[in-house]
Amino acid sequence: MSLDRVAAFTQRLFLVTCFLAPSLAAAPTLLFQGFNWDSCNKDCGLYNSLLASIDDLAAAGITHVWLPPPSQSAAPQGYLPGRLYDLNASKYGNEEQLKSLIKALNNKGIKSVADIVINHRTGEKQDGSGKYCIFEGGTPDERLDWGSSMICKDDDYCVGNGNLDTGGPFTGAPDIDHINPTVQKELSDWMNWLMTEIGFDGWRFDYVKGYSSSFTKIYMSNTSPDFAVGELWSSLAYGQDGKPDYNQDNHRNELMKWVEEGGGGALTAFDFTTKGILQAAVQGELWRLIDPNGKPPGFIGIMPANAVTFIDNHDTYSQNLWPFPSDKVMLGYAYILTHPGIPSIFYDHFFSWGLKEAIINVSAIRARNGIGATSQVKILKYEDDLYVAEIDEKIMVKIGSKDDLGNLIPDNFEVATSGLNYALWEKKP
Ligand SMILES: *[C@@H]1O[C@H](CO)[C@@H](O)[C@H](O)[C@H]1NC(C)=O
Ligand SMILES: *[C@@H]1O[C@H](CO)[C@@H](O)[C@H](O)[C@H]1NC(C)=O
Repeated sequence: MSLDRVAAFTQRLFLVTCFLAPSLAAAPTLLFQGFNWDSCNKDCGLYNSLLASIDDLAAAGITHVWLPPPSQSAAPQGYLPGRLYDLNASKYGNEEQLKSLIKALNNKGIKSVADIVINHRTGEKQDGSGKYCIFEGGTPDERLDWGSSMICKDDDYCVGNGNLDTGGPFTGAPDIDHINPTVQKELSDWMNWLMTEIGFDGWRFDYVKGYSSSFTKIYMSNTSPDFAVGELWSSLAYGQDGKPDYNQDNHRNELMKWVEEGGGGALTAFDFTTKGILQAAVQGELWRLIDPNGKPPGFIGIMPANAVTFIDNHDTYSQNLWPFPSDKVMLGYAYILTHPGIPSIFYDHFFSWGLKEAIINVSAIRARNGIGATSQVKILKYEDDLYVAEIDEKIMVKIGSKDDLGNLIPDNFEVATSGLNYALWEKKP
């Protein structure tokens, strides 16, 4: 081809692409947790290392990547932030590298979610008793130059004289008084700066038990993210045998109450209910996966559009706090990637467990059949070792070690992918 013809061809391609693009509906949200507890120790920095993996994330249909807390912090993982506007002192990389990563993700149609740690804030200087409680002088331009009146007066870490804390205690840093209008305004300004200057589009709210949901609602309406998810982590109810109770309605109702009080809409919550039930169910107790109404027993069974399902994260897996059985992880993905809710894929599973291809295969089936947060599930089997469900009358999924399905799978369905103890079918073309 001559150069002219190459140019003409490229232009035609460009026109076709641009003409078609607006007619494609936005893909349903699929979250990726882009780090683990050890990501702060990467030689070249997490931000730079993720740059090399963007094509894989796009292939998996990821729409949003959750990045770790970006600000200067007293602990390397970022969860004891102090100078909120200082993104150069992070172990994950500096502000420029973060912006480059977010831009490169955007170029592939992927948005970035910032981890917002606002229950507490580490002071810049120590007080007389050696506690980091003094914020003054933290930033040259006096943003966030807070006095002790911004610290809750019942704080467990240091002496404050603000209002009483509206949530649970935290002992590693001063708890911030969110009733204070200056706090509300300055945190909202900072979050809007993360959007406009750094490029974030959404939020992951850390430890939301630490402050009232009414403040989440304020931060949501002051910043209008396109997606937000809260970490409301409560224990399931357990029986005397040490196993989760069958009924976890109190647990999922707490998530629903928080989302509703936080204003709903783009606000979602991690589905800790599904995680807990699912990781018990895959150990020969698949009967757990249906509630008395015939629906999934987790948060996705009552509020699927606002439920983010996941298998493990930087706490539950990396710190061994509540890990999913390691030999059953793909069963977990076969469940969350076929069911309603907004699935989230964990860094380790994708990058270091050799599951990338299997996850991409299941995710592709979700995408090409248009399965989304509010898809309809019909649960057909829920025995000890066999769970079968049909979703939107388009795909079927089986998990469990029992292989004899009788004639449960209709003739017009064919196997789309399978692995040890799971299989997916979709309608024949
Ligand atoms: C961080 O570095 C960037 C340049 O890469 C600079 O623009 C910004 O002011 C720095 N931030 C702080 C808080 O020093
Ligand atoms: C993924 O799908 C491809 C194409 O169908 C197949 O060749 C491959 O074996 C699958 N891999 C896994 C791990 O499911």
